[in-house]
Amino acid sequence: MTQDELKQAVAREAVRHVVPGEILGVGTGSTVDYFIDELARAGVPIAGAVSSSERSAARLGRHGVALLDLNDVDSFPVYVDGADEIDGALAMIKGGGGALTREKIVAAVARTFVCIADSTKRVKVLGRFPLPVEVIPMARAHVARELAKLGGTPKRREGFVTDNGNEILDVHGLSILDPAALESAINDIVGVVANGIFARRGADVLLLGTSDGVRTVVR
Ligand code: A5P
Repeated sequence: MTQDELKQAVAREAVRHVVPGEILGVGTGSTVDYFIDELARAGVPIAGAVSSSERSAARLGRHGVALLDLNDVDSFPVYVDGADEIDGALAMIKGGGGALTREKIVAAVARTFVCIADSTKRVKVLGRFPLPVEVIPMARAHVARELAKLGGTPKRREGFVTDNGNEILDVHGLSILDPAALESAINDIVGVVANGIFARRGADVLLLGTSDGVRTVVR
């Protein structure tokens, strides 16, 4: 199976985790694009969606899904999103598409985080994928110096502006042995909006696409 076929398989499986009649949280990325299309194809009725990006909002809108403002929502049962890397404890690196801050916010309000990923995303130790960090533009150089002190090599994502009007530093060369601790340490740097380690609120369920089918891992 190709990587795209694996993404489509997990997307199809994720539709089974959607609670009919309830609000749904929707992440961002190519795997989520497949999920949005599969959701529409399956015709599962939902009360509306909270989106983590303009990209997903546009796709949901094209399928006629009502978009809700997170500020009008207390809680909802399920958030579906992809990952750039995911480890055995279901901690993740996210933000390859640059939507990490809104993803983290929407995930925080969801009761269950369902991660959809193909088997190439599964790792023992997070960090081979460069860690995205969203920064306030005027703080970029300061944050980069502080990230270097933590052992990484930050590189500005050229020509990219987040949905929040900020910049992204991609941090290379990290071996993230304690994801929750590093997540907190980076959050403590003044000028950081959010970082792409999702450990303190990791996934609850992983739907992993493998050549033998979709494997479900529950935390
Ligand atoms: C978006 O900012 C990311 O967090 C994505 O969820 C992640 O990069 C997975 O994307 P793909 O499904 O395109 O691999």
